[in-house]
Amino acid sequence: MSMKGPREQGPSSHGRVLVIDDDEQIRRLIVRLLGPMGHVMEEASTAEEGLEKLRASPPDLVLLDMQLPVRSGHEVLVEIRADPRTRLIPVVMITGAATQERKLKAIEAGVTDFIGKPFSPEELVARVRALLELKLVTDALEDAEQVIIALARTIDARDRYTFGHSARVSLYAGLLGERLGLERRVLATVRQGALFHDFGKIAIRDAVLLKPAKLTNEEYAEIKRHPTEGRDLLQNMKTLAQAMPVVYHHHERMDGSGYPDGLSGEAIPIAARVTTIADVFDALTTARVYRVALSREESLGIMAEEVRKGWWDGHLLDEFRGVLDALPEDDQRIVRASAGISTAPPTS
Ligand SMILES: [Fe+2]
Ligand SMILES: [Fe+2]
Repeated sequence: MSMKGPREQGPSSHGRVLVIDDDEQIRRLIVRLLGPMGHVMEEASTAEEGLEKLRASPPDLVLLDMQLPVRSGHEVLVEIRADPRTRLIPVVMITGAATQERKLKAIEAGVTDFIGKPFSPEELVARVRALLELKLVTDALEDAEQVIIALARTIDARDRYTFGHSARVSLYAGLLGERLGLERRVLATVRQGALFHDFGKIAIRDAVLLKPAKLTNEEYAEIKRHPTEGRDLLQNMKTLAQAMPVVYHHHERMDGSGYPDGLSGEAIPIAARVTTIADVFDALTTARVYRVALSREESLGIMAEEVRKGWWDGHLLDEFRGVLDALPEDDQRIVRASAGISTAPPTS
């Protein structure tokens, strides 16, 4: 959030406000009302100009006229929500004689609030202040999410053999989830959960995690603690709460022989079953301390065998073949593609 130095009075609910309205008088009025409160005001008279300013430097709040000429306020709203750099900016729609139907459309597109035309100055000032306070909170949350993602990368970075593993698992699992037609919320759990599935390995000692030889029973027992450690580390973080079923259950097996809970069949959350397929596949297709990387076909063959043993969900493995057919075999390209994935929770 941008601050205004000398004129700042209150705690920190000042920010950059972009007004997009074709009516010059309305823009002037809003600037006259909000400027003296310490906000930095910017104006645009068309959708195009507004979007250009939004992209050049995202403001903290947008006041958006619903009825703009050429491209409507609704279209601007949709673009704001589609762009990761602007999707969390509060947008207040200024509505004249808007029909219920158009308001509903705006709500579906993620509008933050409405203000009617004509509006009372006090109402405008109060709404803007409240929304900018809220924006401070979401900014802090976004920062926290970045820190957590950086932390998740360190899990892979600790071991050169597993570098990029979590990002690739998230990419594979997300594509498999899409192919299965999982609903948005579950899909978000898959993507975020896959990215953090081995988070609990932070608590495992290097001597065990990176041991270049066969593990003793005690050491293996220590490794097996990582889903529980992961759950304990993440359970108090609200932004990552949705990842939990995957973090905790990604080592369960269909026949109940997995851990930590020994769940079987459909009692294992679907998001975890999907991630397990991606996790096992990536482990097989990348080199490990104890063996070279296997080819796709070799890996799928081993996994099919393990489906017969009762370990993995065979239907999911069949669908996963379809996912792989559409992906390049070149690992580097997969890593690059997976670097761009988002763990953002769905907005609705
Ligand atoms: Fe794991
Ligand atoms: Fe893993």
